[in-house]
Amino acid sequence: MKKIGLIGAMDSEITAFRRDFHAVETPHKGILCGSFSDYEIYICCSGVGKVNAAIAAQRLIDLCGVQYMINSGVAGGLAKEIAKLDIVISKQLTYHDFSPLELLDKYPPCSHMMQADAELCEKALHACDALNEKLKKDGKLPFTSHLGTIVSGDCFVSSAEKAQQLRDDFDALCTEMEGASIAHVCTVAKIPFVIIRAISDFADEDAENSFESFETVAADRAAFIVKELLS
Ligand code: ADE
Repeated sequence: MKKIGLIGAMDSEITAFRRDFHAVETPHKGILCGSFSDYEIYICCSGVGKVNAAIAAQRLIDLCGVQYMINSGVAGGLAKEIAKLDIVISKQLTYHDFSPLELLDKYPPCSHMMQADAELCEKALHACDALNEKLKKDGKLPFTSHLGTIVSGDCFVSSAEKAQQLRDDFDALCTEMEGASIAHVCTVAKIPFVIIRAISDFADEDAENSFESFETVAADRAAFIVKELLS
């Protein structure tokens, strides 16, 4: 059986996994184990931010032996073409609060732009198409899926000016607080990974309000894509 690691930063981001994969506790604190299809699935609610996420990723690799890593959850949309509840799939990730980023290129083991696994990205995009078909059949609004750059940092971005700067500096589709550190750990450990995020806000002055309103529905949508990807 293949072993998959799933990380969500907040409870809302792993609720669907817990339920759908019939997860039970493991001897490892904060790590649940469930199953789906041919997969043994290890689920960890990491807590927010880069260090928490990196700890979770490394523990899933070392303690549970996961062979693939998926992080799903919510994000603040940056690019103009992004709408709320759209899905962003990570082609690549970097930090927006590490400076100068070139230090990562100069000093091994990991360069500043971390590439997600192309096959997982492709499967995630197909999963989005499958969900859109279902939504259309049910007479519900479809969404757009985007493949591109995600930037992570230890701050909840809630300023249009900062959002603009992230757009300009990184050509990023969205921002969140964990993806790049999970990517970093997985790159060093040579574990294929993908980050899947649903847009809860636009990282502007309304971000906190919007986050409150969209957190649950966006987190569930991202989790649904993961389930569809695995099936
Ligand atoms: N996650 C969801 N929205 C976010 C934002 N605006 N900034 C950082 N992380 C987020």
